[in-house]
Amino acid sequence: MTLPNGLTPETARAAAERAYELDRRHVFHSWSAQAHLDPMTISAAQGCYVWDGEGNRLLDFSSQMVNTNIGHQHPKVVAAVQQQAAKLCTVAPPHVNDARSEAARLIAERTPGELNKIFFTNGGAEAIEHAVRLARLHTGRYKVLTRYRSYHGGTETAINLTGDPRRWPNDHGNSGVVHFFGPFLYRTQFHATNETEEAERALAHLEQTIVFEGPSTIAAIVLESIPGTAGIMIPPPGYMAGVRALCDKYGILFIADEVMSGFGRTGKWFAIEHFEGVVPDLLTFAKGVNSGYVPLGGVAISPAVAATFDDRPYPGGLTYSGHPLATAAAVATINAMADEHLIENAAEIGDRVLRPGLRELAAHHPSIGEVRGTGVFWALELVRDRATREPLAPYGGTSPAMTEVVAAARAAGLLMFVNFNRLHVVPPCIVGEAEAKEGLAILDRVLTVADQHTS
Ligand SMILES: Cc1ncc(COP(=O)(O)O)c(C=O)c1O
Repeated sequence: MTLPNGLTPETARAAAERAYELDRRHVFHSWSAQAHLDPMTISAAQGCYVWDGEGNRLLDFSSQMVNTNIGHQHPKVVAAVQQQAAKLCTVAPPHVNDARSEAARLIAERTPGELNKIFFTNGGAEAIEHAVRLARLHTGRYKVLTRYRSYHGGTETAINLTGDPRRWPNDHGNSGVVHFFGPFLYRTQFHATNETEEAERALAHLEQTIVFEGPSTIAAIVLESIPGTAGIMIPPPGYMAGVRALCDKYGILFIADEVMSGFGRTGKWFAIEHFEGVVPDLLTFAKGVNSGYVPLGGVAISPAVAATFDDRPYPGGLTYSGHPLATAAAVATINAMADEHLIENAAEIGDRVLRPGLRELAAHHPSIGEVRGTGVFWALELVRDRATREPLAPYGGTSPAMTEVVAAARAAGLLMFVNFNRLHVVPPCIVGEAEAKEGLAILDRVLTVADQHTS
């Protein structure tokens, strides 16, 4: 049987072998000790599935880096990139380009409030860099506050904002970032017993941090609307509105990082819509904006912040800001997501299939400490002991148990997003009921491996 891209299993295998050999010789991979890598080759992809170098089909419940919200090889997005390439491949940022203009309109139409000006970048980390720069220049202040248990990207400011151990080797104490604890009831820092207490106490802790750091020194608070890589912890009711109120009280800008949570992932265009009435001053996006078919990110900017640069030049730019191939892919992606009701599908599959299905798994797998999420954005917190909540891998690391679980998933044909002791169930927004159930059935088998490591 040929692969969806027309390769025969034999040609695919030969190409994969060559690609693997060259990769190991010449490619330097992200976040990794290079000598210890054994990366998986992907030869083809279609919809919710990928094919590895041996021609095995796997259900892609990782959406790669949680970015293929529209699934792999969506024909309308592929065609849009092809047509744009034939029409006009590249244009410098100072010139007007129809793909960029239309992408900006479609994004501005969907962002909350009046975030109507879009600055395009090549990805999420650059979006964060520019959001922070905009905030610092607008307020004339330098410090930026963000939570532990967060991820904001790999560039200098973004990695210093990041509240996970990948920051440590990049943090020289001079970034101007201060971390605080956000709400996370399952591992509460506030001895809370319910969500109301968690929200109230987390807000009191944040206000204390602001007061002790000096409100007049703080440019912005940066928060993922729903933290992704760090564990898909949905902020409890009242928390995000409380952060907005604190920002207003102290003249601080609110930056919502929607790089992972945006464009349908949570069953809404943006996760911030789950918190009624909360509108950030700046909103960063990437990934789902065009499902990563061509690199693209950006910042949506409020009228007040934009006005700061009406008569004063904004000191920042990129050769590929609003690149035609990337923005044409965004136009096609956003239109297809709207036409095919993919946001609604993500919400419905989350409510009708994934939430009950994952809870059912938790009912008979002692290794599941907690199930959290919404839409097609779910985390399983794996533990050795439900009573003590001891994680199956330590914070910031992995364990033989987690390695076994991930290997079992892959052998059973399921690709997952994994972080420390968590499995993230993050299929594309196009996922159908049958595929969601297929993934849950594989997980059911895989979790018996995790159960063997419980006490
Ligand atoms: C919330 C969040 N912000 C920023 C980034 C960085 O985006 P990129 O990898 O495109 O630079 C990520 C990437 O995973 C993310 O999840």
